[in-house]
Amino acid sequence: MNRILVTGASGHIGTELVNLLKARGADFAVMSSRPGSAAAGVLGIPGDFADPASLQRAFSGFDTLFLLLPLVPNKLELARNAVQAAKAAGVRHIVRSSGAGADAASPVSLARLQGSIDQLVVESGIAHTFLRPATFMQNLVNFSAAQIKGGTLYAPHGDGAQSLVDVRDIAECAAVVLADPAAHAGQAYTLTGGEAFSNAQQMALVSRAIGRPVAYVDVPEAAAVEAMQGMGVPAPLIGWFMSLNHVVKQGWAAGISGDVAALTGHPPRRLEAFIAENVAAWRA
Ligand SMILES: NC(=O)c1ccc[n+]([C@@H]2O[C@H](COP(=O)([O-])OP(=O)(O)OC[C@H]3O[C@@H](n4cnc5c(N)ncnc54)[C@H](OP(=O)(O)O)[C@@H]3O)[C@@H](O)[C@H]2O)c1
Repeated sequence: MNRILVTGASGHIGTELVNLLKARGADFAVMSSRPGSAAAGVLGIPGDFADPASLQRAFSGFDTLFLLLPLVPNKLELARNAVQAAKAAGVRHIVRSSGAGADAASPVSLARLQGSIDQLVVESGIAHTFLRPATFMQNLVNFSAAQIKGGTLYAPHGDGAQSLVDVRDIAECAAVVLADPAAHAGQAYTLTGGEAFSNAQQMALVSRAIGRPVAYVDVPEAAAVEAMQGMGVPAPLIGWFMSLNHVVKQGWAAGISGDVAALTGHPPRRLEAFIAENVAAWRA
């Protein structure tokens, strides 16, 4: 028996994962913290990471938990609730969507957060698999579209390159692992694209695709902090984002892993193809 419960099902990775699990005919349900957020035709079970009792009810009867926690200031606390509930509910395997570089001892605060949550999962004694994606290609649409439409992307990344990964590849890897979790027990997969591009190179590709110039401007770190404060981003998130920005600027986010190809059987989706598919998002 492998009854799967998908958390984070209405998000970027989750939406793609639900479609794949449906197509595969997997035995699964989704947990939803907002009424009505479950995808059509899928069993939705109420549960909120902030409400431990709701989690234990939601997780009961499931063998495998796809654990995706939102990036919020109290993420570690939500993770503790989830892992304790999984243990109490008798979940047998946790497939956790983590982050590239996750390491409880990292000097990089976001990597340390992700690693500390991975550590909670390990310490639970429940069989587990970690998926550690790099930055999503989809961020160029979901978070940067307004700047790109305006003709300039601002970031404190210098000329640091990133091996962006397509969310559809992450979801495919998750679907492969969820189909046979025992075959992936104890594994941690780093999910990246197959090429690394600096922001200037990314904007050159976007410019060519939309037929309009889009510049990249490297901004000082203090200006990036100020901009996020102005947008009302909570302080812990600003700290995590800036730790990631530092990693990118140092060139440490350019590493390429073979794990997407090994799990899916095909090379990672290419940034150029992603950009060609999404030109409408950046046309002013
Ligand atoms: N963006 C990147 O480049 C990147 C790169 C690497 C790792 N990550 C990590 O990936 C994760 C985000 O993935 P994503 O973009 O696919 O997710 P997302 O689009 O941000 O969606 C978040 C999901 O969490 C659920 N959720 C929110 N609050 C909840 C609560 N209190 N209880 C239960 N569920 C709750 C939401 O479901 P409801 O419908 O229930 O609200 C939603 O499905 C974060 O942990 C982030 O650190 C992101």
